[in-house]
Amino acid sequence: MDIIHKNKSLSVRSNLPDYEKTYQEFSWEKAKAELIFFPDGTFNAAYNAIDRHAESDKKDKTALIYESDKGEKESYTFAQLKEQTNKFANVLASQGVEKGDRIFIFLPPTPERYIAFLGILKTGAIAGTMFSAFQETALMDRLADSGAKIVVTNSELFSRIQKIWKDLPDLQKVILVDEGDFPEKEKLISYQQEMTTASADFNVAHLKPDDFAYMLYTSGTTGKPKGVVHAHADLLQAILTTKYVLDVKDQDIYWCTADIGWVTGVVYGVLGIWGLGGTSVVFGGRFSPEAWYKIIADNKVTVWYTAPTAIRMLMGSPVDPKQYDLSSLRHLCSVGEPLNPEGVMWGKETLGLPFHDTWWQTETGSICITNYPSMDIKPGSMGKPFPGVVAGIVDDNGQELPAKQDGHLALKPETVYSLMKQIWKNEEKYKSYFNNGWYISGDQAFKDEDGYFWFVGRADDVIKTSGERVGPFEVESTLIEHPSVLEAGVIGKPDELRGEIIKAFVVLKQGVEPSDALKEEMAAFVKGKLAGHAYPREVEFIDKLPKTRSGKIMRRILKAREMGQPIGDTSTLEEY
Ligand code: WTA
Repeated sequence: MDIIHKNKSLSVRSNLPDYEKTYQEFSWEKAKAELIFFPDGTFNAAYNAIDRHAESDKKDKTALIYESDKGEKESYTFAQLKEQTNKFANVLASQGVEKGDRIFIFLPPTPERYIAFLGILKTGAIAGTMFSAFQETALMDRLADSGAKIVVTNSELFSRIQKIWKDLPDLQKVILVDEGDFPEKEKLISYQQEMTTASADFNVAHLKPDDFAYMLYTSGTTGKPKGVVHAHADLLQAILTTKYVLDVKDQDIYWCTADIGWVTGVVYGVLGIWGLGGTSVVFGGRFSPEAWYKIIADNKVTVWYTAPTAIRMLMGSPVDPKQYDLSSLRHLCSVGEPLNPEGVMWGKETLGLPFHDTWWQTETGSICITNYPSMDIKPGSMGKPFPGVVAGIVDDNGQELPAKQDGHLALKPETVYSLMKQIWKNEEKYKSYFNNGWYISGDQAFKDEDGYFWFVGRADDVIKTSGERVGPFEVESTLIEHPSVLEAGVIGKPDELRGEIIKAFVVLKQGVEPSDALKEEMAAFVKGKLAGHAYPREVEFIDKLPKTRSGKIMRRILKAREMGQPIGDTSTLEEY
């Protein structure tokens, strides 16, 4: 990435609290004052996100503004969300849902998805979220590994669950938010019907702060996606970062564009914003510059949290933002992939405000490194650690490196309050994140002389395409299910718009004729099995894959080949 403004900092508003001072005085123990614990010391994140406000003078404040793709609007106050989530918790309780059960949400962006999520937390069960773009393989991986007991979905998406239900022995019931006539009738529950009769009173589960609240499956280099598990009290870091990084204040209208299937949609689309008692906009439609600008203008959005690919799409679009009244905007943030300096500057020049980059991961559960509102932005840098969080750059042995040297971006785990508590049923994987007292993020970065962190790249083979995290192994294993494929190696290929695109190198079975039509068929095959976003936009046929002597695909070599770079150390490589 060409960091054109590397040494030029961008001064922003200075009428905010002194964050350097906050940094020195910060303690997680003191910060806990932001949370409400029950008198016996127990806790519930959903109580903190909704009920505490519904029981205060914020009860009639709008919590959720929902706008569908057709422009229909619905809104819910905190009191209404309390009632709805209580009802849903009762629906689950009547199905025998207990603390620790896994309940998964597979819905498009609609209010039900938020009601379901918080209702699950109220019962003490663990909420799992999934993108509505997921197809059978992706669904199977998640529902089977987690042993999900109930899935909340709609009749359209249910058809995908229907096909795999026979292989999911733990899945007892499916809740349909709309009606549908299916042969599995006796195992289906009507959301509408149950919600009408359910009581609006519910005794929220009193939990230990470390009890599990939600889980998200995320991709690494090897194997199938892993279940990253977060606890109820992780909410604390979500609230604090929403307050100090996203800068949300009582009167703000906040729009986080992330889907709930992604960690950003859970932490900053639900927990942080409502934990702070803020008003959140949810858009039910797909991305288009016109629709997005209209959402900002119509709802008078003031704080906007989005992602670099979307920013680049807006930048590249012929739609002129000046045609819309975007003057309500006062603070812009970005997450998920490197934010190019051009993106920061486009915000400043076009919207009058720079984008503030934020760095974090599914595993860290909240923003860890960021550009504070009061800080000078160095465009292209991710910023500095959040108060309380200790970040460093370390070598392969977990030894800290001096400024300006590339290494592993690492965090002191005890300083990241919302750090994952477990990898579901995979202690070995969980332990593999830690080295010499550091949590190793999997990213490569360096720190400059002013303590700003700069992203260099992934240390592993994880692909980030349009901000979505995709594991090459998932795509490779789907590809080899295709009857013409013998082997496949998958990499992220740099792309100006999407950050990276998925590229597959495919070895065909003997006798199969390569053709462009076959390439397209393979892309569609993966799309149909895995997910709408996790398919190879480029397929190349190749005679042989580079492999280590032990048979592991050397994606690094495929990538170097793609980029026309030297292939580096090949001593562990099988003859190639
Ligand atoms: C990447 C997203 C550069 C990084 C909340 C990280 C970023 C992975 C940034 C986590 C950023 C996230 N600059 N890269 N500001 N933010 N990333 O789990 O590689 O979907 O490890 O969580 O996204 O992706 P995840």
